[in-house]
Amino acid sequence: MSTPKTWFVTGASQGLGLALVKRLLREGHQVAATSRNKETLAQAVGNTSAAFLPLQADLGSDASVQAAIAQTISTFGRLDVVVNNAGYGIGGSIEELTDAETRQAFDVNVFGTLNVCRQALPHLRQQGAGHIINISSIAALAGATGWAVYSATKAAVSAFTEILAQDVASFGIKATVVEPGGFRTNFLTAESLALPQQPIAAYEDVRASHARYLQLNGSQGGDPEKAAAALIEIAAEANPPLHLLLGQDAYNRATSKLEALGQNFQAWRELTLSTGFTN
Ligand SMILES: NC(=O)c1ccc[n+]([C@@H]2O[C@H](COP(=O)([O-])OP(=O)(O)OC[C@H]3O[C@@H](n4cnc5c(N)ncnc54)[C@H](OP(=O)(O)O)[C@@H]3O)[C@@H](O)[C@H]2O)c1
Repeated sequence: MSTPKTWFVTGASQGLGLALVKRLLREGHQVAATSRNKETLAQAVGNTSAAFLPLQADLGSDASVQAAIAQTISTFGRLDVVVNNAGYGIGGSIEELTDAETRQAFDVNVFGTLNVCRQALPHLRQQGAGHIINISSIAALAGATGWAVYSATKAAVSAFTEILAQDVASFGIKATVVEPGGFRTNFLTAESLALPQQPIAAYEDVRASHARYLQLNGSQGGDPEKAAAALIEIAAEANPPLHLLLGQDAYNRATSKLEALGQNFQAWRELTLSTGFTN
């Protein structure tokens, strides 16, 4: 069991966020958690103790996030671990997804995460300690046909978390980006997943890819309880990982991608190195 800490978890009414919040409370941590609907969250967590602070927040609004963080600090007096978990999958080719559909995914998956980091950091800097854990996806590193926008949102999260870790290291703050494979949550259900309002019939490979993913719903290999335990484990580490892959599928996809990238770089090495000035 790890030393009790104060956690802030977004998107906690279901799935991985809910599993994490319940486990944290069982293990004696203090938890502030956000949801689009505070009542649904409070009911799902089912814990009325003073260690749990359910919050309603619109993550796309900097002001709403600022209020949620302020309430956390005024309730618990500090903030140790921030988990940016809220997010949703969006399928569809670039051409099929409208500007509004695409921006909405970036608003939640990317700008929501940036808002929470921006609002939490002044407190973490003042403390000279803290750990930001951003939930990305294996899609950030090794995406699949039909999920370009989702991959792009998560690639943004992975990329800025790598630099965030460097930018805040001197303040004693850690950052980790988590890249899960398939986990058995509501992620692939019609309620969570967004698909294009105007699909284009010609995108047969995209439809086939979506059908393969949707079939996985309910039988994904990843156990959210074990993912929650892994997050608690890294938060207790003095030197937590910069990247944490979760699941055998994530490990396989990431290592294959690494090999393919290495081969690509090697195959074109001569041309790459030929582009500098010779004098
Ligand atoms: N499950 C997987 O296979 C998988 C794989 C890779 C990455 N991930 C990532 O893991 C994280 C958790 O997802 P999950 O698997 O637990 O899925 P989930 O069961 O669908 O839960 C997603 C959570 O994100 C929040 N959320 C969803 N859409 C939102 C929106 N439009 N605005 C604000 N919040 C929203 C919800 O919070 P409220 O309803 O409480 O507001 C919900 O609790 C996500 O970032 C997801 O991209 C999941």
